[in-house]
Order: sequence, then C-alpha cells, then structure tokens
Amino acid sequence: MNRKKANILILYSYSESYEKERPHEMAAEIEVEEVAHGIGEALMNIGFTVDMVHILTSHNIKDAVVKFRPELVFNLCEALNGVASGETLAAQTLEDMDMKYTGSGPSTLKVALDKGETKELLLSKGIPSPPFKVLQEGDGFEIGLGFPVIVKPLNEDGSIGISRESVVNDEVTLERRIKYIHNLYNQPAIIESYIDGREFNVGILGNPGDEVVLPLAEMDFSDFPDEIVQICTYKAKWFKDCAEYKGSVPICPAIILPEVEEKIKKVALDAYRTLGVRGYGRIDIRLGADGLPYVIDVNPNPSISRESGLVRASSAAGFTYERLISKIVECTFEK
Ligand SMILES: Nc1ncnc2c1ncn2[C@@H]1O[C@H](COP(=O)(O)OP(=O)(O)O)[C@@H](O)[C@H]1O
Ligand SMILES: [Mg+2]
Repeated sequence: MNRKKANILILYSYSESYEKERPHEMAAEIEVEEVAHGIGEALMNIGFTVDMVHILTSHNIKDAVVKFRPELVFNLCEALNGVASGETLAAQTLEDMDMKYTGSGPSTLKVALDKGETKELLLSKGIPSPPFKVLQEGDGFEIGLGFPVIVKPLNEDGSIGISRESVVNDEVTLERRIKYIHNLYNQPAIIESYIDGREFNVGILGNPGDEVVLPLAEMDFSDFPDEIVQICTYKAKWFKDCAEYKGSVPICPAIILPEVEEKIKKVALDAYRTLGVRGYGRIDIRLGADGLPYVIDVNPNPSISRESGLVRASSAAGFTYERLISKIVECTFEK
C-alpha cells in the first residue's frame, strides 16, 4: 500500500449539546470540529485522501467505517454526545472492527479518564504524584491530607470544574466544595495536596519505546489575577478575554536548568509509558518544594489544534503542523 495515498477517515465527536446542563463548559467540544477540518487540510496537503464524519454514538462510528472503508481512522472522538466515557467506547468500537486508528487505545483512555486510577498506577511504579483521596457522595469528609488541597471532579478533563475556588484551606470550605462537585458534576470528587510550584507541560510523540520528548512548556502565571492560587482554571484555558487566560502564558521552550529539565522529562516519559499512551500525549507536571516533579495529569489524545500546547511544543522542536500530523499517522501504521 502506498501510505501517502491511503484513505483516512477523520471521526470527530460533537454533542447535541446545548441541552446539556452546563452549556458554558462546551468549549472543548466546540473546538473539535474546527480541529478536524484543520487536520483534514493537513492530511490532504501531505497527499492522503480524506473523508470526515461527525459522531454522536458508537453506531455512527460503525456506519462511517463500513461506508468509507478507510485504511486508517484519525480518531478525534473525545466524548460521545457530551459524555466523557464515550471516548473509551469510541476507541473500543474501532478496536472491535479491527481498524487502525490514531492515538491511544481504550484501556489507556479509560484509566486516564479516572484521575484516581491514574494516580494509583503512577504511584505503584514509583512515579511522584500528589497524595490524594477520592470521595463519593455519602462518604465522610475525613481526608487526612493537611491544607491546602485542590478539589476536582474525578472524571473530567479540559479543566472542567476547576476554578480558583477549587483550592481550599479549611474544613468548612472543603466540605462545601466536595458537595459542589458531587451535585453539579454527578461524580466523585478527588482531593489532592496542592503543589505550590512551577507548572510544566511535556508533549511526547511516538509509541512506547520509541518516543520523542518535545521541548518543555512552562505556564507563566506572573500576571495571574490571584497571587496565591495560580492554576490552569477552566477560564484560563478557554476564555481568551478573561484575566485568568491573559495571566496564564505558556513559555515554550521553558527557561529551566538542564538538570531540572532532564528530571521532569524522565518523569513524564515514565508516566507516558506506564499508561501505555500511543502516538501523542501531554503530561502536566508541577515542581514540588522538595524538588520532585509531581505528575498532575496524563492526557492521551490531547488537543492538537494549531493553538494547542502540543503543537506549540512540536513547533519548538522544528516540526511543521503537517509533519506532526504525519508523525501521528506513521505511529498508527507502525503499531
Ligand atoms: N495537585 C495539584 N496541585 C497544584 N495544582 C494543581 C493540582 N491539580 C491540578 N492543579 C491545577 O489545575 C489544573 C487542572 O488540573 P488537571 O488535573 O490537569 O485537570 P484536567 O484534567 O481538567 O486538565 C492543572 O493544570 C494545575 O494548574
Ligand atoms: Mg490537565
């Protein structure tokens, strides 16, 4: 088969969304359609033939694959009809159809969508991640971590449910915030020790054993509108006009001592391998006061919009957008 001429089917998720209870948290889902078009253009520039279908259910995936008979699926199904666990089902559906598809497999996506499971796995391999506790509705509020802590929904990404109020310093506010997560997000809350240190994003390309670790990016929070709590909130990630967005500036490549950089890259790569991320991923890390890089978040299939951190980091490594997309496709043919 001539790979350059291969027929690639781009599948991307959308949701019949505005009925969702939290329409203001739809930014990632709105973005994905635009990203799909950008990737389609890049793939055609490289010489692939491209079809594109938006996906609401796993049945849509099956129908599209049967209809277009692609050699490879570019999988941008981040959810199914707004439900985050649909990401796993989408990859499983492609797996069951014996399709080659970009990015990580269902078991990796499933673990990564559960921050508690991810951290247990990392800690079991000796990879630093902040101490934590998961609380279901009805559990007591004993957490035994000390303060400050950060309270997050267990099964979301894209900073959904994360604001300056997520970081709490006392029992009363903690209890209130945990209830807020249970009620609004309908899922357990994860409470983690708050790491008050520099934040780095580490983009990695390739399959386990054959990876390229991209230049580090640091989130520069010097102009963040809060001197105490400086985190990547939902507003900071998605709302360009707000002060939190303007005060969270990625610097890539990061300005950092080479020995610290090496330490961070090693921990990130260990996390990538431990979760079995394939093709591309981004690991978020905070540097503790003890000098250890703590893994905050493992993102298989992170955003690859032209403005995303992963694209910025690959560009700092000399990759054009086409080269990055082509690398992701190559990884899929090789796995
Ligand atoms: N334990 C922590 N200590 C300090 N900051 C944290 C911690 N956990 C999360 N954050 C902040 O919150 C942001 C979003 O949290 P993260 O777990 O990455 O959620 P998501 O999966 O939605 O991206 C991080 O980028 C970081 O700024
Ligand atoms: Mg994150």
